[in-house]
Amino acid sequence: MDRWINKVAVITGASSGIGEDLARELVKKNVNVVGLARRIDNMQKIKESLKNEKGSFYPIKCDVSKEEDIVKAFQWIEKNLKTVDILVNNAGVYTSDLCIESSTENIKKVIDVNLIAPTVCTKEAVKIMRKNNTAGHIINIDSVAGQGVKFYESTALNMYSPSKFALKAVSQVVELELEYVKNHTKVTTIFPGLVKTEMPPEIAFKHLPYVDSKDITDSIIYVLSTPPHVQIKELTITPVPGYMRQ
Ligand SMILES: NC(=O)c1ccc[n+]([C@@H]2O[C@H](COP(=O)([O-])OP(=O)(O)OC[C@H]3O[C@@H](n4cnc5c(N)ncnc54)[C@H](OP(=O)(O)O)[C@@H]3O)[C@@H](O)[C@H]2O)c1
Repeated sequence: MDRWINKVAVITGASSGIGEDLARELVKKNVNVVGLARRIDNMQKIKESLKNEKGSFYPIKCDVSKEEDIVKAFQWIEKNLKTVDILVNNAGVYTSDLCIESSTENIKKVIDVNLIAPTVCTKEAVKIMRKNNTAGHIINIDSVAGQGVKFYESTALNMYSPSKFALKAVSQVVELELEYVKNHTKVTTIFPGLVKTEMPPEIAFKHLPYVDSKDITDSIIYVLSTPPHVQIKELTITPVPGYMRQ
């Protein structure tokens, strides 16, 4: 991880769950982390609790479904921190209504946050990386629901799977385009199984095995720790099937 000391990481959805846990770990490892999310109060508390660590945490209130918020956030980052070395597209949402009965508003909400936002963030980050000739790392937090459609509690989670399938394709497109423009930024897609965070309904943890945010953070730290010539393209992290925890 030494190559990332004092570098800048942008994490979307850093106000809870996987994004918060990863932000905390990177700050402890002397990385300067910019957190983008709507719940600025949560992120201010995270900042306060990290004030004695080696790196810094910079919370920015940002609704990633609004392009103008994303653009403003990256303008602030470029002006104040000069660069972006790591981008973790982590913010995500789902709606639990049936796709075949859903409002178009809900359909668009999931696509906006899970697919359009990571694409726009990638565009903004890559613009800065290319200006600075940075060989950075883009990490897209996908889901096992982006590898195969799941049906749980009488719902297939509306557009969640389609958005995550498409996010995998975005990773592949961006990887090829970075090669085309001769930039050595790596692209990794992480596919978690069920993770104990605020996102899944609480009942899921009673009936299904799960991993913790820390387990996903550990895998991201591993991916970031690889030498500059090694790219881990995809990593799937699931609980051991049938391994129920107390
Ligand atoms: N938990 C699981 O079982 C699981 C499994 C596979 C994949 N994942 C993926 O892991 C990622 C993180 O989820 P999590 O499990 O850590 O859940 P979480 O605790 O609910 O975190 C979701 C994060 O996304 C942010 N977010 C949502 N909408 C946003 C918006 N419009 N603008 C800015 N930020 C927004 C939230 O921040 P604000 O509300 O403050 O804006 C929050 O920080 C997601 O992409 C999810 O799809 C989760």
